[in-house]
Parts: sequence; C-alpha cells; structure tokens
Amino acid sequence: MRDFFKNIKPGLVGVEVGVACGGHAHNILLENKPEKLYLVDPYLPYGSNLYGEVHSNKEQLLGWKETAYTTLKDFTNIEWLHMDSIVASQTFKNLSLDFVYIDADHSFHRASQDIDNWIVKVKSGGIIGGHDYNNQEDGYGVTRAVDLWYKSRNIPIPVFDTDWWIFV
Ligand SMILES: C[S@@+](CC[C@H](N)C(=O)[O-])C[C@H]1O[C@@H](n2cnc3c(N)ncnc32)[C@H](O)[C@@H]1O
Repeated sequence: MRDFFKNIKPGLVGVEVGVACGGHAHNILLENKPEKLYLVDPYLPYGSNLYGEVHSNKEQLLGWKETAYTTLKDFTNIEWLHMDSIVASQTFKNLSLDFVYIDADHSFHRASQDIDNWIVKVKSGGIIGGHDYNNQEDGYGVTRAVDLWYKSRNIPIPVFDTDWWIFV
C-alpha cells in the first residue's frame, strides 16, 4: 500500500485524480473501503516535452479507459468525472472531502494548481497528497510544487518517499 493510504480509514469520501488503468483505484477500493470514491480522468492527451512526460496517443488513452472500466466494473461506490482536474475540483463544495489523492499531470505548474484547487475541498482533519514525489523523470515537478507549498508557509517539509501528503 502506498504511504498516503495508511492514513485513510474505511467509510470515507475521497477522490483519485488521474486514474489511468484503474489499478491503484482498485487497491483503494479494496483496502481502504471508502464510502465513495470519485475518479477524475479525462483520458485526453497531456504532458509536455519540458517535463519528460508526454502522453499524446489517443488510442492508448482510450485503452487505459477501457481497462479501468473493466477493472472497476464491480464497484457501486465509484463515480467517474471525465474532465480536467481543475474543472472537476469546482464540482465539489469546499470542505466536503475526506481525502484527495493526486496522480495526474506531474509538471510543476499543474501540480501546483492541483494542490491549490483541491486542498480547499478537503475537510479539516482530512488529507491531500499524491504520487511521484522525488520523481526525476517528471523533472521533479511534483516535488517542487509540494516543497513550495510547505516552504511558503514556513512548515518543515516532512520526509517523503514517492508519496507526499498534507494534513488539512
Ligand atoms: C500516472 S497516471 C495515473 C496512474 C494511477 N493513479 C495509478 O496509479 O494506477 C496519470 C493519469 O492522469 C491523467 N491526467 C492527466 N492530466 C490530467 C488532468 N489535467 N486532469 C485529470 N487527469 C489527468 C491521465 O489521463 C492519466 O490517466
């Protein structure tokens, strides 16, 4: 189990942003047993050569979507939001979610926007975090975004492995 999810009790309401083939969402559903899990992924080309991560093949993305639908077909406590992360965040009320896990576009700019737009949706006592901290291949975009969030608040940066988190 990824580090972030050791903090999630059963029966909560959360979001995974960036679902791809649904493998990780499947783990969340089985191991964390949320009351409801919203799944955000537009399955549209994303990424930029600037950050070493480009997924421009539409057929590949549709293949991921089909795989995710198959993988998650037995769960009745999921709801798909096939839209951009920021647009999806705007469909939730502030302070309405227990957890948000971000694993979408790993560029610095997008990771920063994701943190800013989703953190306000998380209840006090909830948690927001994500994957690919310390990932050299994405140009450390996630790392820089998370570190900046902590530094700008003068909070010591916790030691992260591949997952980061902020307790709200
Ligand atoms: C690294 S994969 C997710 C992997 C998945 N969390 C797992 O561990 O099984 C990134 C996913 O983010 C999605 N994505 C990229 N940009 C996005 C955006 N702006 N909003 C929402 N999802 C996005 C992509 O379509 C892709 O499926």
